[in-house]
Amino acid sequence: MPKITFEMESVTVDVPQGSTVHHAASQAGIVLQRGFAAIHPCDGKGRCSGMACAIFLRTRDPSAVSPPTWKEKLLHRRMVKGGKRLACQCVPLRDLTVVTMP
Ligand code: FES
Repeated sequence: MPKITFEMESVTVDVPQGSTVHHAASQAGIVLQRGFAAIHPCDGKGRCSGMACAIFLRTRDPSAVSPPTWKEKLLHRRMVKGGKRLACQCVPLRDLTVVTMP
């Protein structure tokens, strides 16, 4: 069972196999949508506008997480190129540290 460390919140949680970072964050009580972005709640289906629930991965190992989904490649290409992922589309495969957006 991989562990995710949320660096900004100083929280580490176990993630059941196949669960997303979004699910792990909500289980840990971590709010990914903050400020203005919270006006339009994220449905966790890869349709966040902008970078509302984006996370930055603190790993150089691309196999530590699932590869970008077609939604990320199609709707959030620039974000993925910049090393960020949508929390609901990212499944940790190994222990991982993530940074949530302020
Ligand atoms: S739709 Fe918000 S994280 Fe995926």
